[in-house]
Amino acid sequence: MYRHEVRDFEGWRAAARPLLAGAVRPEDVEWSDWRERRLADTSGGDSRPPDNSPRTPVISRRLLHLLEDLACYRDPHRWEFMYRLTWRVLNQNHDLLDNDADPDVRTARSWEKAIQRDVHKMHAFVRFHETDTGDGGKRYVAWFEPAHEILRSAVPFFLKRFPNMRWMIATPDGAAHWDGDHVEFIDSPKSSVPRADTTHSLWRTYYRNICNVARINPAVMQRDMPKRYWQHLPEAGEIKSLIHEGGVKTHRRLTTPATPDDLRIPQAIARSLDRIAPRADSPLTCKLCDLWRHATQAVVGEGPADAAIMLVGEQPGNEEDLEGRPFVGPAGQMLDTILLRAGLNRGELFVTNSVKHFKWEPRGKRRLHKRPDAQEVRACSTWLDREISNVAPRVIVALGATAIRAVTGSSAKIEEARQTILRHQRGALVICTYHPSSILRGEGDRKAELMQALEDDLRRAKRLLTE
Ligand code: URA
Repeated sequence: MYRHEVRDFEGWRAAARPLLAGAVRPEDVEWSDWRERRLADTSGGDSRPPDNSPRTPVISRRLLHLLEDLACYRDPHRWEFMYRLTWRVLNQNHDLLDNDADPDVRTARSWEKAIQRDVHKMHAFVRFHETDTGDGGKRYVAWFEPAHEILRSAVPFFLKRFPNMRWMIATPDGAAHWDGDHVEFIDSPKSSVPRADTTHSLWRTYYRNICNVARINPAVMQRDMPKRYWQHLPEAGEIKSLIHEGGVKTHRRLTTPATPDDLRIPQAIARSLDRIAPRADSPLTCKLCDLWRHATQAVVGEGPADAAIMLVGEQPGNEEDLEGRPFVGPAGQMLDTILLRAGLNRGELFVTNSVKHFKWEPRGKRRLHKRPDAQEVRACSTWLDREISNVAPRVIVALGATAIRAVTGSSAKIEEARQTILRHQRGALVICTYHPSSILRGEGDRKAELMQALEDDLRRAKRLLTE
């Protein structure tokens, strides 16, 4: 009998690897969780791996990702379950994960779902409290009680969202500290988190303003935001009164036309939240031109940090500005359709824009896109250039005239720019092509022609990776 006490996924992996290599059967291994301390005495068993391992087990990426999720599931039997599942995939059925009727696969899927839900909840419900560091600086601290041990899985989201704040998120399983440069995981006591502060009231105000009372459905709300999260949510104090006000406000909203002020309130508050931790060298707090004044937030690029292909658009549109992500509106949907036709997976690309703030002008109740001028594109080139240098793509696809200018400096017409492949100063090959928005504006044959052209150019980009 082999015995292992495991603390985390890495520990399990290190212990499981030699056992799997030796094809040790699941019933011959006893796993325990370090929290249980069940193995106070291990003298009765052999915890060393078998010698003369005949082969190194090869675990697919798909299984590995699943195991990473399962390791977060708060169940003392998770380690033995993970070993049994892996052993069965390696020794009984390589396609086991495709068999939805298998009880182990069903358990794995339900655990995986629970973990993903829990991570999502943590992203949505963590609230930072402002604290002084003692050296004149600020640190933002949050306490959160996830159902599972998901701190490490949830942290990348906060690193991306709040790169310029110094923050700590404490959970019953430990804490994550971010000092602006690197993240550290430690144990941490709950008592160090303060109760009320200025950020707290900012959240309450923010919540009151973004809350669409006309759409509050108390039952659905409680299902998505269970009451156990409420004690750590500053805005929870607003929920009751908002539900109460709902009826009155709904009526008023339905009978009064929206004004430009309706747009300004959330924008102003979002900017106040941004100012919590201003830093001169971040696009999130950039004021190199005036576009930040009327935008909800800066929209930076997203995608794998080592993506081989980078797509560069013009600037965020209305939906992108509100959601904080590039190409999620109508142009993004057109782009997704054509990427699919070209055999490219958006999840593998880095998608960004030449300009990070939405430039718009009011037209009735709507915010109409306005093309950024050369000076605004130049000001924002700092951030685009940083993304290009960080991601170091092998191919850049410049979508539309603004992106062509931002990436290559050329003001050539698209038809002409499409004819050549250029080289960016940081080494990437550059393909110039049409912007999905121009396809949306096209009609009939012209629309089909532009779609085909963009698809062909994206295929060319893909081919360049293998040439
Ligand atoms: N148009 C762009 O250029 N970028 C977006 O993110 C959305 C629309």
